Amino acid sequence: MKHIESHLFVIIGATGDLTSRKLLPSLYAMIADQGLGDRCRILGVATSELTDEAFRESTKDALRAAGHDDEDFEAWSDRAVHYQCIRPGYEALRERIEALEEEYGMRGNRVFYLALPPRVFPTAIEGLGEAGLAKSSGWTRLVVEKPFGRDLESARELNELVHRYFDESQVYRIDHYLGKETVQNLLVLRFANSLFESSWNRDRVKSVQISVAEELGVEHRAGYYEHAGALRDMVQSHLTQVMTLVAMEPPASLEADSIRNEKVKVLQSIQRIDPEQVVVGRYGPGTSNGSPVGGYLEEEGVAADSTTGTFVAMRVDIDNWRWQGVPFYLRTGKRLPRRLTQIAIEFYEPPVCLFDREGLCQVHSNTLVITLQPHEGFELLFDVKAPEERFRLITLPLDFFYEEAFGPLPAAYTTLIKDLLSGDQTLFVRADEVEESWRLFTPLLARSGEPDPYPAGSWGPEASERLPARDGNAWVVR
Ligand code: BG6
Repeated sequence: MKHIESHLFVIIGATGDLTSRKLLPSLYAMIADQGLGDRCRILGVATSELTDEAFRESTKDALRAAGHDDEDFEAWSDRAVHYQCIRPGYEALRERIEALEEEYGMRGNRVFYLALPPRVFPTAIEGLGEAGLAKSSGWTRLVVEKPFGRDLESARELNELVHRYFDESQVYRIDHYLGKETVQNLLVLRFANSLFESSWNRDRVKSVQISVAEELGVEHRAGYYEHAGALRDMVQSHLTQVMTLVAMEPPASLEADSIRNEKVKVLQSIQRIDPEQVVVGRYGPGTSNGSPVGGYLEEEGVAADSTTGTFVAMRVDIDNWRWQGVPFYLRTGKRLPRRLTQIAIEFYEPPVCLFDREGLCQVHSNTLVITLQPHEGFELLFDVKAPEERFRLITLPLDFFYEEAFGPLPAAYTTLIKDLLSGDQTLFVRADEVEESWRLFTPLLARSGEPDPYPAGSWGPEASERLPARDGNAWVVR
């Protein structure tokens, strides 16, 4: 673990949902775990007129609600947490920051975490830059939440604005999927185990499937989701990140840029996504967890004539030597039967199936299923002979589950904050990476018309089943 220097952690958007639900609990978990104590001071920034004390109380509430039950956080909040209203402007923010640094004898290491709605990213970046806050006597790091842009053009503009003030080495674009242990472990699974890596190519792999299923609907987020939809919200970011880690070539080293270079090359190898190979769906009334639920159009804040998709499935082709001809199927949706994030690497069946004559070959053997959540682990599915019966095959898993081996895993945000504070950019998305990703998906955003309906609690529209079926494949769900 790299040493974390003392710093001021400035949260812009400190009264929002993200700050109380994710950021403060993960930050505190990291502070407690690393024994950072007073090396991390927090300055919450937002438009509300709050005192330090009032913000401290809401910080304590957030930590309590997130299940922190040690009493230390009360004393820590009283010492380390501060608040500044942004209404007097960014110059006033700079003065407050300098005053706090002086008071605590800090040398000017600063994080600016934009926990804001995407439409106000530019104002905040410009405000910081113009107030001279992009540089300091120590290090300065800027954290930008997803979605980074709405399409290729806006992502480029946002990158340009960021780079007007900040060097790319200061920028940490968050995709919280990269903080999940199981996602990072893809690199170890592939590059530390020659058993898998030697089969990880078009000679052996028949298809790759990446599914991110959510049981929840849009909840209270229609204001954001109506303008995002599943393609922007999930595919352009989380599914793309997972796909690049599955498909990338071995990096020259574990340096951040070495890994990120290989991820970008995967995206550059995708010529285009055929709109005919894309299914967009929207949940209608159905069930969730056994209870009846309404459809997307009945959710609060959703327009009656909305055409926002809550489900996307697509085939992606990576045109490089390793993957030529291997379909990558991506699928994500809200109000699916359960919460499940899974990668299935389907290997070819044996060239001759000795047992087929008896109609006994199984469909999903020869498959490596990697579950990223909720029950994190791997299952290698293979056929065995049922005892005492002549060649009756049963598909069984050879498996490994994280929790059984290591106990509970850290929250993704805790991992990412730790890396941010130690200056490791590996798990953050680079400017060219985010633009390459938008290059692929922007043409699909122009699609118009009604999404295909699916009942809440199902695995999506019929057309999604036909997508792999056209190639003689089927979705694997464990
Ligand atoms: C977020 C999306 O980035 O990821 C949400 O905006 C989605 O719509 C969430 O629900 C899923 O994250 P996780 O970690 O629960 O799979």
